Amino acid sequence: MTELIHDHHAGTATAWWRDAVIYQVYVRSFADGNGDGVGDLLGIRGKLDYLAELGVDALWLTPFYTSPMADFGYDVADYRDVDPIFGTLADARGLLDDAHAHGLRVIVDVVPNHTSDRHTWFRQALAAEPGSPERERYIFREGAGENGELPPNDWESIFGGPAWTRLPDGQWYLHLFAPEQPDLNWENPEVHAEFASILKFWLDLGVDGFRIDVAHGMVKAAGLPDVGHPDQVKMIGSEVVPFFDQDGVHEIHRAWRRLLDSYPGERIGVAEAWAPTPERLAGYVRPDELHQAFNFHFLTTPWDAERFRAVIEESVLTAGLVGAPTTWVLSNHDVKRHVTRYGGGELGLRRARAAALLMLALPGSVYIYQGEELGLPEVLDLPEEFLRDPQRLRNPEDGRDGCRVPIPWAVSGPDFGFGFPGSQDSWLPMPGSWGELSVEAQLDDPDSTLGLYRTALAVRREREELGDGSLTWLKSPEGTLAFGRGAFVCTVNLTGAPVDLPAPGRVLLASDPPAFDGETVRLAPDSTVWWERDDD
Ligand code: NOJ
Repeated sequence: MTELIHDHHAGTATAWWRDAVIYQVYVRSFADGNGDGVGDLLGIRGKLDYLAELGVDALWLTPFYTSPMADFGYDVADYRDVDPIFGTLADARGLLDDAHAHGLRVIVDVVPNHTSDRHTWFRQALAAEPGSPERERYIFREGAGENGELPPNDWESIFGGPAWTRLPDGQWYLHLFAPEQPDLNWENPEVHAEFASILKFWLDLGVDGFRIDVAHGMVKAAGLPDVGHPDQVKMIGSEVVPFFDQDGVHEIHRAWRRLLDSYPGERIGVAEAWAPTPERLAGYVRPDELHQAFNFHFLTTPWDAERFRAVIEESVLTAGLVGAPTTWVLSNHDVKRHVTRYGGGELGLRRARAAALLMLALPGSVYIYQGEELGLPEVLDLPEEFLRDPQRLRNPEDGRDGCRVPIPWAVSGPDFGFGFPGSQDSWLPMPGSWGELSVEAQLDDPDSTLGLYRTALAVRREREELGDGSLTWLKSPEGTLAFGRGAFVCTVNLTGAPVDLPAPGRVLLASDPPAFDGETVRLAPDSTVWWERDDD
């Protein structure tokens, strides 16, 4: 194992990230090590065997830094320390070492668009005069209207309401998210220097890279021009807005790439970037910028063969233009779990299993959100008093609590193994039926969703055709997809009815088993099959 760690940071690592399967740990809800009802770093350390055996290559940990938790950690008060609810800096070191010893790389979140309102800098800014250097670290402006009583422009917060809050002295500050998340001023060199130092801090500690929160947001259009109409949140990811995806942001990513490259071991940057088109998104992964960007265009694709084919083709093409690998993602801590998005119940699960095999067969790197390997659905009926997501408070239809419910580890017992005897109740209550979906219930069953993920990840690891590379579309009936990668073939039936086709070869793995009739195979509704061609 020492060998492995040594090698791992010796500068000889290949471009591991081009086809890595990266598992997202939402720290708060993964595993509780100290019994306070909230997941923590100690909890993750106790589950590394599970993760290594699942067969993923790396972990992405959501923010565990000191935070008042107005946005559950995406409001950072101290970027160089661990929040006591999640553990200590020593726990972070221990987790990195243990993960590396398990052959798992670790990516951590960095939140550069905004700080917490409790960050020392913001406190200093509040205490200082308008026009002071302290205020220059954030975006303070005089208001519009006769007495400055109106916000400086018409920008809306992503969480709802105006993106500006007024202080008693009359000035307004910008927050693209909650008022507790003031936006930093990236025109200020001090901000650049501070973040370079924060990145170094974690790189020196041994992290393998960063997931960059709101990587498209740090630079705002000069003069902060109005958008011109309301409902701006709906425009994000499909239209140009003056607070996102401005060209100037790429300079920051170039500087960060140089910093990452100055460390051995292929440390990476992953952009959480919402860009209007796949072409604009590809801008974030040019050879001198970040390594990967999340593919939200794939995540938001409805269950439809044509639509999936279009988004896959476009993603592969545009990433290919800049030489970057494509990434694929179906769920994360900000969206409804895909079992539910695809229709919920048995239908949703069937489609989710099929989608998993589709995603894992595509060229590039894959992100798995904790619990999707168990087929967890969104929890839709959380009691009102538990709902605390800031987005939901302003936008009741759009709450993110339901995808953040803790993971069931055991069939029975306190909080199905998320808790233990004597521990406090989990911070979000777990549905009574979740024991059936637990790791314990599925681990030894190859037909379970966990079994499917484990086998799929093992096959993906073994077969050279999978991971990085290209695909060739094959002719297939309407409502289905078929593509080959060398001797490997993947067929997906996205219709609700069985579909017949000439059998492409021998079945390697199926989300639902197909039926054979001589040379013809009948694909089950909403199913994916992995094949090995016999004619190749
Ligand atoms: C994206 C994160 O994934 C989300 O959880 C957070 O609320 C916003 N960025 C703001 O930091």
